[in-house]
Amino acid sequence: MNYSLGLIGYPIQHSLSPWIHERFFKKTSTAGTYRLIEISSNVSFTEEMTRLKAEGLNGFNVTVPYKEKIIPFLDKMDENAKVMGAVNTVVNENGQWIGYNTDGTGYVRSLQSKYPKLLKEKKTRLLLIGAGGAARGIYYSLIKAGFQNVDIANRTIKSAENIKNLKEGTIHTNILSLDEAQQQLHLYDVIIQTTSVGMKPNQHMSIIQLTNLKTDCIASDIVYQPLQTEFLKQGEAQRAHLHYGHTMLLYQAQAAFEIWTGIKPSTDGMDLELMNKLRGNE
Ligand code: ATR
Repeated sequence: MNYSLGLIGYPIQHSLSPWIHERFFKKTSTAGTYRLIEISSNVSFTEEMTRLKAEGLNGFNVTVPYKEKIIPFLDKMDENAKVMGAVNTVVNENGQWIGYNTDGTGYVRSLQSKYPKLLKEKKTRLLLIGAGGAARGIYYSLIKAGFQNVDIANRTIKSAENIKNLKEGTIHTNILSLDEAQQQLHLYDVIIQTTSVGMKPNQHMSIIQLTNLKTDCIASDIVYQPLQTEFLKQGEAQRAHLHYGHTMLLYQAQAAFEIWTGIKPSTDGMDLELMNKLRGNE
């Protein structure tokens, strides 16, 4: 089998996904190519999808701004993607396009691979900051993985409450304003920044001031441009353990590769390589 894979989105010229997937092909001795399929807003998305279907790609990733727009072109969606209302991975199964979302699972895999003991400690308290699409995916995957205490802080309380509706069983979720969260940071073992605040060109910004942290707190940011966000800098100054945003990118790609090929590629060494690549771009 020679896999023909790709990425649709706009703009994607600087995407690191081709590099990651070509690495996975090599690591798993799998034959295949992964190419960028940039679709600008000047062309008809429907026509592009018809063309892509005719091409018979084995699968592709979907990024901004098409994660929702792709849905009407799918034949099926997995549960995760349905809950997210967004798709980042499509597999072609005998001409049928099946949509998945590996963003949340990718995040949780990245966290667990770096901090494997977190889940064993049932009392681990996590705080999600933000309540957009990324937070929704991460919340859902955290509770599916078995985390029992996941609070959500957001500027708009209603959006956080919508995410809390995904809650099931014995999971505890408190909703907080950003000010309340600021006062209670000492309660949390893991603080996860899920908004785009702090992303280039606003790298001097942080959605919260990381002070008064619990000993051994993990500060996690999903932003990876810059690699060392203001949020992570503050975490480091407070002696927190850091969890970087590029690792989510790596593990969502691993989960996608697994969906396409049935093989789970090793990510050994790639965390550092990716870090160096991103540093080179800064
Ligand atoms: P994504 O889908 O990538 O997660 P999004 O849906 O635009 O992005 O979500 C953005 C999140 O960042 C939201 O939680 C948003 O807060 P609101 O729900 O109050 O809009 C949060 N956010 C963005 N800019 C912010 C800012 N300047 N201050 C506080 N929160 C901000």
